[in-house]
Parts: sequence; structure tokens; C-alpha cells
Amino acid sequence: MKHRHFKVNRNMHFSVGFLVTMLLIRKVHSLVEITNFKCESLDRNFSNFEYCRIKSVNRTYKYVSLKVNLFQTPVNQVKVNTALYKRLNGYKPFLYNVTVDGCKFLKNQNSSPVAKYIFGIFKDVSNINHFCPYDHDIFVEKLSAENINFQITKILPFPEGKYMLQMHWFAYEINRAIIRLYYTLT
Ligand SMILES: *[C@@H]1O[C@H](CO)[C@@H](O)[C@H](O)[C@H]1NC(C)=O
Ligand SMILES: *[C@@H]1O[C@H](CO)[C@@H](O)[C@H](O)[C@H]1NC(C)=O
Ligand SMILES: *[C@@H]1O[C@H](CO)[C@@H](O)[C@H](O)[C@H]1NC(C)=O
Repeated sequence: MKHRHFKVNRNMHFSVGFLVTMLLIRKVHSLVEITNFKCESLDRNFSNFEYCRIKSVNRTYKYVSLKVNLFQTPVNQVKVNTALYKRLNGYKPFLYNVTVDGCKFLKNQNSSPVAKYIFGIFKDVSNINHFCPYDHDIFVEKLSAENINFQITKILPFPEGKYMLQMHWFAYEINRAIIRLYYTLT
């Protein structure tokens, strides 16, 4: 019963977020522009970024790539906190702040609609999309505005503005890395 109660609440929370989002929208915007990408390793004995970069092919085509080396494999316990920020006077938390147990989530991606939505942005351009454990370096290759555009404007439209998606990656309950993706919607 307890479990069921929690599930209902979580879905309600998602629906409220969805409604708020819909109310904020004046029209559907379709241009995502990636403006910056930052990766920070908090424990270089555990993991480090071999690269973390943004590449501009031209004004409309930019992509980000990263590769993280794992030094203490296999990794069997992962937690990810993802928070969306919107720039007003500085970046302020905006709508979403979800934490998921990564290994559980990968076994049942419907367990968290918000995490599923965010994971949908990069899962197809990464080697991260498999069950735990992780015993290899992890990469995201050429995540472009197109990938983000599809998730953001076709599935769940957002109001225009400057955004930052911040992810805190934990392993064994210790925060090991922070990844920040900055983009604008116009
Ligand atoms: C990393 O390992 C080195 C050598 O074992 C140790 O001196 C250092 O304190 C460790 N750093 C962290 C952040 O644990
Ligand atoms: C930008 O580069 C992409 C990939 O090479 C290309 O398909 C697109 O036409 C280019 N856009 C402009 C405006 O040059
Ligand atoms: C997200 O929620 C966690 C746990 O409730 C909290 O510690 C963290 O500060 C929140 N982050 C943001 C950006 O609001």
C-alpha cells in the first residue's frame, strides 16, 4: 500500500509540473542552441573526464561530447540528481529536480517519467544505456541541438529563455561529478 501511495504522488507531481509548463507557454518554440558545456570531476581517484567539449560546426550545428574514465570498476551503485535551471537574475531552479537510483531506473525506465524524459535526450548517443554494473569508460558522442530539440519541443514544450541542465553523479553515495549543459530556446 505504501509503495502504491508513493507512486500516485509521484505521478501527480509530474502532472502538476506538466500543467505549469503548459500554462507558461505562449507558443511552441523550436530552436535549441547549445551555448556551453562543463564537466567537473569531484574525485579524480574515482573518475576523470578525458574530454568534455562543445564543437561548433556552424552557427546552427553544435554538439557536445564527453568521455569519463572510471578508475574503480565495476560500479554497481549510481545515483543521479538532475535539476533544471532557468536564467532570470542568475540561474534559478526551474520546475524539475529529480533524483533517481540509476541502476534501478535502467531496469524500469517507466519508474520515473522525468528521468526517462531526460535520459531520452542522450541515451542514443552514449554507451551508458545498459544495466549495471559499469566496468568501462563512458562516453556521449555528438549530442546535438537536434537531440535536445526533439525531446524539448516535440514531447514537452518549454517557454523561451536561457537554461542550464545540471546533473550531479553519485557513486556509492558520494558525489563524483557535475555536468552542466547550457542552452537557449528561442
Ligand atoms: C587520491 O589518492 C591519493 C593516493 O592514494 C590520496 O593521497 C588522495 O588523498 C586521494 N584523493 C581523494 C580525493 O580521495
Ligand atoms: C551546418 O552544418 C551542418 C552539418 O555539416 C549542415 O548540414 C548545415 O547545412 C550547416 N548549416 C549552415 C547554415 O551552414
Ligand atoms: C533538489 O532537491 C534536493 C533534495 O531535496 C536538494 O538537496 C537540492 O538542493 C535541490 N536542488 C535544486 C537545484 O533545487
